[in-house]
Amino acid sequence: MNKIAFLGAGRMAGAMVGGLLANGAAKPGDLACIGGDDNTAGELAQRTGITAAANLDALLQGADILILACKPQQLAGLDRSLAELTTGKLILSILAGKRLNRLAQTCPRARNVVRAMPNTPGQIGAGITAWSSLHPLAAADRAAIDTVLGSLGKVITVPEPDLDAVTGLSGSGPAFVFEFVAALREGGIAAGLSREAAALLAQETVLGAAKLLAESKAEPEALRDQVTSPNGTTFAGLKKMEAGGFRALLKDTVVTAKVRSEELSRD
Ligand SMILES: NC(=O)c1ccc[n+]([C@@H]2O[C@H](COP(=O)([O-])OP(=O)(O)OC[C@H]3O[C@@H](n4cnc5c(N)ncnc54)[C@H](OP(=O)(O)O)[C@@H]3O)[C@@H](O)[C@H]2O)c1
Repeated sequence: MNKIAFLGAGRMAGAMVGGLLANGAAKPGDLACIGGDDNTAGELAQRTGITAAANLDALLQGADILILACKPQQLAGLDRSLAELTTGKLILSILAGKRLNRLAQTCPRARNVVRAMPNTPGQIGAGITAWSSLHPLAAADRAAIDTVLGSLGKVITVPEPDLDAVTGLSGSGPAFVFEFVAALREGGIAAGLSREAAALLAQETVLGAAKLLAESKAEPEALRDQVTSPNGTTFAGLKKMEAGGFRALLKDTVVTAKVRSEELSRD
């Protein structure tokens, strides 16, 4: 793996560094980072053995790939020297809502720019990331992007306009699932369980069902039907969900999040 520089040393950068070191794709000496005023870079360097760079010049010295992992609102304030310092380098941005043409304004001489949308389970290597590139990627760059993003979990590629829908589904999705788990827990409490038991049962039910879905490779509807006997308990519960418009509500939820992502990306 060529040398990688991280601009931003917070949760996502930390997860990527951790994943790359854990799977042997990079050695600490291959990675460098820089943060803002809160010394996250120093802490990440201390934790992992990577280099905390003193300035952008040092960060990009010898680096082939620059990962933009600060907050999206910090992009506009980044030092203008970045335009020159990123000449010929591959840029990978995980900044939510920052489009490829906007990123290319900051790094106009980069050899290519990739925009990725990861999600929070990436912090434990269980995420899914969708990406898109400004120009078609050379084979070696594509392999590097797959390795770097693979440190957060699964990886798919989509056309850039789809990234708003990706944001609405897998980007915001973990929060929708957490809300679903909380609602299941409340249901358990309403049905007479202690909060502690209901919380554990709700969490493990979602975890186990997700693992079963992933391992069986069946459609969720098929697995649902396997546990639904006519007029049984699951049947009664599913009828209640249907009457309450559960599926339509979730569909609208994802579309609403997508539309908001489109609004936020307009700059
Ligand atoms: N968390 C997620 O699951 C998720 C999902 C999708 C996309 N993203 C995207 O990932 C990016 C990072 O998110 P995060 O959760 O890792 O954020 P975070 O933990 O808050 O980290 C942000 C990092 O940026 C650094 N920073 C601030 N100003 C800087 C500057 N001028 N130059 C260089 N670094 C600077 C901060 O340093 P100091 O704190 O030391 O100042 C910190 O290390 C965001 O753009 C977000 O949109 C995150």
